[in-house]
Amino acid sequence: MVESTVIKSGLDGVVVAETGISEVEGQRGRLIIKGFDAEDLGFSHTFEETCALLWSSKEDGAELTKLFGQARVEAYEMSKDILPALLREHPMDSLRTATSLLTSGTQVDSKEYARITAAIGVFAANFSRMSRKLKPIAPDPKLTHAADFLRMITDETPSKAEIAGMDTYLTTVSDHGMNASTFTARVVASTESDNVSCIVAAIGALKGPLHGGAPGPVLDMLNEIGSPENAEKWIATQLDNRKRIMGMGHRIYTVRDPRAAIFEKAIRKLEEAGLKASRLPLARAVESTAERLLAERHPEKPLKANVEFYTAVLLDSLKLPSNIFSSTFAVGRAAGWFAHIAEQRALGRLIRPASKYTGAYPR
Ligand code: COA
Repeated sequence: MVESTVIKSGLDGVVVAETGISEVEGQRGRLIIKGFDAEDLGFSHTFEETCALLWSSKEDGAELTKLFGQARVEAYEMSKDILPALLREHPMDSLRTATSLLTSGTQVDSKEYARITAAIGVFAANFSRMSRKLKPIAPDPKLTHAADFLRMITDETPSKAEIAGMDTYLTTVSDHGMNASTFTARVVASTESDNVSCIVAAIGALKGPLHGGAPGPVLDMLNEIGSPENAEKWIATQLDNRKRIMGMGHRIYTVRDPRAAIFEKAIRKLEEAGLKASRLPLARAVESTAERLLAERHPEKPLKANVEFYTAVLLDSLKLPSNIFSSTFAVGRAAGWFAHIAEQRALGRLIRPASKYTGAYPR
């Protein structure tokens, strides 16, 4: 019998760990990752440099870039004949299944983390290709992870601006406090299970539309709305039907998610470099209409744009198909998952909360 009867079914406000990895300041709208403001990090670090930072690795960004390149090739060679059989309708199902082909121990080792993180990029990119009836493509180990990921998906050599946009995306989403998938990874690590099992479980948590599954539906929403004057009616109808507006609302932020502004800035940089016709003006109009209508219906809870709203616009601007948005999130978030897995292993404490029994007792 559990003595405390205070039940927090969504663990709202429950602090389950101390962490030196990232801080989400919900009322101020600030995200700090390893001592950097997320915006500074997103525009100054490549993804591999961010991994080096998050993993406190002996290898610097340049060394990790080499390790990632080799690991992409190894992952491709190991999986290329099997991947077509693993293609599922939902890209996250494919990604979860392919990732589980990898094996690992419980070691805290940035080389090992690089090997698995790199493989996730190869699997995600090639499943995206196969879902469009394109053949799998071999990685180019000379490229950075962001550049090669874009190249494998789009079949084009990405521009410098596009590579920078991809690095900004991957770096900005690399970590975000005790979010659901990170907590999942930590729960699995706390049982002393292996690294791959932690990541496979985290991918499963990220798939859900309340977490990392939202950006694809955000793009669908923008496409259905089509132009700003349709936004009011479309959103009101959704709310009348008790449907959630994807990309709006957050458990921790009571103000606009700071990552939305980072992605807007990244899109503007792409526009300065020649990108034409992004969905940014439409997105801004839909966001402000959604914010107003949600405030009318939920005066008790501020519901503003979250990371997924502008993820959809940024990844679309980078020419990624919408069905790969969640997998792309996994490519970036794997960096943070491993940082938390390492932190959890150092803590060495099984995560095992309690529940209050409401069923029958034996007579
Ligand atoms: N659209 C419409 N209504 C929303 C909403 C949204 N995006 N987000 C929350 N609400 C409503 C809920 O339905 C609830 O209303 P109710 O009490 O009448 O049922 C109320 O606001 C409180 O929401 P709650 O479920 O307690 O918020 P939460 O903190 O548990 O949820 C999210 C946070 C992110 C899961 C939620 O805002 C959401 O579902 N957003 C859309 C999905 C999304 O963008 N996910 C990505 C998150 S980064």
